[in-house]
Amino acid sequence: MRILVVGKGGREHALVRALAESPGNPELFCFPGSDAIFEIAKPVDADGLESLVAWMKSNAIDLCVAGEESYLVKGEGLANLCEKNGIPCWGPPKESAQLEASKEFAKEFLVRNSIPTARATATDTLEEAVAAIAGEYPTVLKFDGLAAGKGVAVCPDEASAMSFLDEVFTQRRFGPGRVLVEQCLTGPEVSVFAAIIDDQYLIFTPARDYKRAQDGDLGPNTGGMGAVASRQLVSQEILAQIEKEIVRPTVDGLRAEGLPYRGFLYFGIMLTPTGPQVIEYNCRFGDPECQAVMPLVRGDLAAFCLAGANGELRADLISFNDGWSVCVILASAGYPETSRNGDTISGLEKIAAARVYHSGTRRTADGNWETNGGRVLAVVAGGSTREQAVTQAHAAADLVEFDGLQRRRDIGILNF
Ligand code: AMP
Ligand code: GLY
Repeated sequence: MRILVVGKGGREHALVRALAESPGNPELFCFPGSDAIFEIAKPVDADGLESLVAWMKSNAIDLCVAGEESYLVKGEGLANLCEKNGIPCWGPPKESAQLEASKEFAKEFLVRNSIPTARATATDTLEEAVAAIAGEYPTVLKFDGLAAGKGVAVCPDEASAMSFLDEVFTQRRFGPGRVLVEQCLTGPEVSVFAAIIDDQYLIFTPARDYKRAQDGDLGPNTGGMGAVASRQLVSQEILAQIEKEIVRPTVDGLRAEGLPYRGFLYFGIMLTPTGPQVIEYNCRFGDPECQAVMPLVRGDLAAFCLAGANGELRADLISFNDGWSVCVILASAGYPETSRNGDTISGLEKIAAARVYHSGTRRTADGNWETNGGRVLAVVAGGSTREQAVTQAHAAADLVEFDGLQRRRDIGILNF
């Protein structure tokens, strides 16, 4: 089997590794990929969506796996173009990927399908947004489009709200677009991933992302400074409630509204005092949750995704380890506001009891690894208990060094 994965970050490194370890020994390709990914997958000679799909066709690719979201909604859409060319694709078509690309589309879908979510008002101008906030703080402001994880602001007061609205409506930092003014929910968050195949689904191991830059969940929001994954992260009772009130109605809603879906769907959920509510959908696996979840997957992920892309849910092909997995992100100097490239990474060869996925690295001419992005590495370890996984992951992360390295010491430990 010849599989092409689309993306270049730590999530895609984890996906490529999991697919490469599938028993059928598939041949892996990745676009745009990274130096680390190219140690296990071959590069692709393409320079955009159209040429990528043409390449897949002329190179007899059996399955395209969408890692990152941007290609799903670019141009005609990755999955749409794959379908036109007869290439099975694990990832939804453009019309369904609006669930991630447009927060307003997602909100309307949630409301139409009676799925629990925060109340929200869509606004076109700064004045409308201020009127919708109506002096009620904290409030949550969401730019209605893809904004590389920077489009959401949880605002404790008027000053922070005005600063975000100024960025969106006056400076147009994310380009044109509306803002959703949303009720602020409280409670622990959980990321639930389901493989969705038409009217069927399979829920993967739940995970939790540590979004803030510093220990104690302080500092600015980031793309994610680490993750913990385990079936035991949420009780059976709550997971059953999430399935009944959120996952099933989402799958039924997609069917009823004529939105085809074959791929991973990420449910960002807040466990509020009145029950689980959806914060967001993403039409892909999470990053860094993917790096924590993939090592828990047993069986044949490649065959599972191929069957799924062809419309068949083969739950018998995979299973999930009952234990715990902890992923610690090592970030470069300046992250998340900026990032620094070119710092030499040392110590990777000392890591034996953990997996390392590369999020933002580059191999130099003399064969060393250096930083090449904000999030640099994901160090992941497993264990039958949470404590074991935490200890191993942090001990392995201790072995890696580079100038300006930033990491959290409470990943997997802090429970919220
Ligand atoms: P997102 O970029 O959509 O993943 O949102 C970033 C973070 O903002 C989420 O993980 C939550 O912590 C927070 N958030 C989003 N919506 C709400 C809400 N309605 N109430 C409270 N926090 C929220
Ligand atoms: N970890 C959050 C995300 O992937 O969006």
